[in-house]
Amino acid sequence: MTFLDGRVLPGVGDITREAVDAVVNAANSTLLGGGGVDGAIHYAGGPSILEECREIRRTRYPGGLPTGEAVITTAGLLPARHVIHTVGPIYGREGGREAELLAAAYRNSLALAAAHALESVAFPSISTGAYGYPREEAAAVASRAIAEFLNGDETVREVRLVFFSKGDMNVFLRNHQFDS
Ligand code: APR
Repeated sequence: MTFLDGRVLPGVGDITREAVDAVVNAANSTLLGGGGVDGAIHYAGGPSILEECREIRRTRYPGGLPTGEAVITTAGLLPARHVIHTVGPIYGREGGREAELLAAAYRNSLALAAAHALESVAFPSISTGAYGYPREEAAAVASRAIAEFLNGDETVREVRLVFFSKGDMNVFLRNHQFDS
């Protein structure tokens, strides 16, 4: 099943295996790694990713990457070409701005991909793991943000939504807000 004339492709898998122009990392503001997607990407991608993250912290974000913002690095040993690191909101900890910040994480990641002329991007389900965002609500927010961006952009031709389980994908398929 796809959406937006085949530009959005949900699927089940390990995002570190996606051979796309950029995989999106569900990072934290330190950009220094963690568990979940973050841990998997750094483990499979190797140290060059962390080296570039450290340089970004040193030169651009000494206080850490703000929630909703995105930066781009090498993908190291991954089949992808780049990693776009974004920080999703921690559910219940953002003073009611959770939906706005989750949408920003998707939108800013896509904008960064387009700015680098990248045509294929793979997203994990940002914030729905350690950050506790309910999958149903996240599906509605993420699908609206992706649709809004793609309706105004021609560069990004393929957005894969990579779920870690069939159950997670089914929750998305029942709660997305894509038109077609
Ligand atoms: N491929 C695809 N999806 C994955 C993978 C993987 N290899 N590993 C985990 N997931 C899924 C989780 O099951 C969840 O549905 O990605 C979703 C996001 O979960 P997290 O990785 O926990 O990300 P998030 O909820 O945004 O929390 C970010 O966790 O790992 C730390 O450093 C990270 O502090 C940050 C926080």
